[in-house]
Amino acid sequence: MIGKPIEKALNEQTHAEFYSFYLYLSVSSYFTDLHLDGFASWMEVQAQEELGHALKLFHHVQERGGRPHLTAIDEPTRDWTSPAEAVKAVLEHEKHISGRINKLADLASAEKDHATSVLLHWYISEQVEEEATADRLYHQVAMVQESPQGLLMLDRELAGRGVTAAEG
Ligand SMILES: [Fe+2]
Ligand SMILES: [Fe+2]
Repeated sequence: MIGKPIEKALNEQTHAEFYSFYLYLSVSSYFTDLHLDGFASWMEVQAQEELGHALKLFHHVQERGGRPHLTAIDEPTRDWTSPAEAVKAVLEHEKHISGRINKLADLASAEKDHATSVLLHWYISEQVEEEATADRLYHQVAMVQESPQGLLMLDRELAGRGVTAAEG
């Protein structure tokens, strides 16, 4: 049976992951608007991944005898001044999520909730990947910012991220 503080914290994290889904989808639509379809598709795949992160927590709460609490999701930013700024927003958001996951892991340890600790190990590793990926993408976009050719080349490369990548 899940303890109340952990149930509440996991429900809040479920909400944060749903917000991530919204944010990536918003960034995706920003890139579609710029006709950078590779970026848009990459962001949509990432949005699907975030949905998976939210559902994994949602199911964990249920499996442990708790009850998910779905609260309203804030409207994400809709426009950015440049592709680099949009990717920077994603990077900053992932850093914020990593901080949240680390605090959750502290709470699970303090509450001696080993099942949640094991689940959170997956999220801790996932955040290492998410931050590294967003950081690399941000630097690459910033590098080609002034070059339409560079941006188009990167766009084509990003189009290669298939839907199957949405698993981790
Ligand atoms: Fe996530
Ligand atoms: Fe990932």
